[in-house]
Amino acid sequence: MSFARILGTGGYLPEKVLTNADLEKMVDTSDEWIRTRTGIEERHIAADGETACDLAEHAARRAIEAANLQTSDIDLIIVATTTPDRVFPSTACLLQKRLDIHGCAAFDVQAVCTGFVYALGIAEKFIKTDSCRNALVVGTETLSRVVDWTDRDTCVLFGDGAGAVVLGVDEKVGIRSTHLHADGQYDDLLTVPVGISQGFDLVKEGKAFVQMRGNEVFRMAVNTLGRICDETLAANNLEKTDIDWLIPHQANIRIISAMARKLGMSMERVVVTVQTHGNTSAASIPLALDCAVRDGRIKRGETLLMEGFGGGFTWGSVLLDY
Ligand code: UT7
Repeated sequence: MSFARILGTGGYLPEKVLTNADLEKMVDTSDEWIRTRTGIEERHIAADGETACDLAEHAARRAIEAANLQTSDIDLIIVATTTPDRVFPSTACLLQKRLDIHGCAAFDVQAVCTGFVYALGIAEKFIKTDSCRNALVVGTETLSRVVDWTDRDTCVLFGDGAGAVVLGVDEKVGIRSTHLHADGQYDDLLTVPVGISQGFDLVKEGKAFVQMRGNEVFRMAVNTLGRICDETLAANNLEKTDIDWLIPHQANIRIISAMARKLGMSMERVVVTVQTHGNTSAASIPLALDCAVRDGRIKRGETLLMEGFGGGFTWGSVLLDY
């Protein structure tokens, strides 16, 4: 039987840092409000002309190097993004070209902040069915391009970045289970309400930005993520104490702390990057994973629970042995 294991991780953050103090000069907000309500202190913002594919390329190359592989070893590319470079080709195909890889399947997944969890779930199925051997799975976002920088409700929350993993085939268990869900009835609570088919009228009106009913999203996120933790543990016959590390989507420190409490985990066992990354949507989980792998906190053989929630609504989890 084949299993999918993480062979290497990579991450990339754009150089420009936007602090809460910078935001105080842009909108009616305060460092104190942002820190206490969200946990965010600063976030990275892509430079003019720097795209989701640019960020993805850095993260992907680092993940491939960490896996001790060459780009030519990759035989599947999945990119999770809500902010692709173009309508088409997909960012995955653009990345494939950058990496000089030819012929393997390459496609994007759009599940907003749950995108990386979805992409990992899909890649795992390819590997388990012997459809590929080394999958490159990337979450990359330039959310700063769809944020209204005059709207204090949303502009303090988001940042840009990319994270990647190489998933490879192994006889030893790596990914133990993935759990993917969605409920489209909440489309209006968190949305960028423009698109190709619906049209760009709102662009002309200057309203083509992230719109969020933060409070309602917050409540839904806490309840839903609590349920997905239960579902994941039950599916694997595990106790809360069996989890070594929680790697949550980084939207708000209060949501992350609520999940730690729910799992009875001390915050020392939770990877938190929201303070310096902000909410990087599909990039947040692989970026957090990469940080904790590279600084030596996460070690081979440990059991990790990743969980995410985002627009759609979409939500999901991955349980794996690193
Ligand atoms: O990643 C996908 C999933 N996304 C999430 O999970 C995000 C979920 N939501 C949240 O994280 C939180 O709801 C927010 C951080 C967005 C907002 O925090 P909150 O505690 O829910 O605040 P609120 O929206 O209830 O607003 C409280 C007050 C309001 O003022 P009044 O009406 O009480 O006078 C807001 O106008 O805070 C005000 N406010 C701000 N004040 C200073 C909202 N944004 C700001 C701001 N600076 N940036």
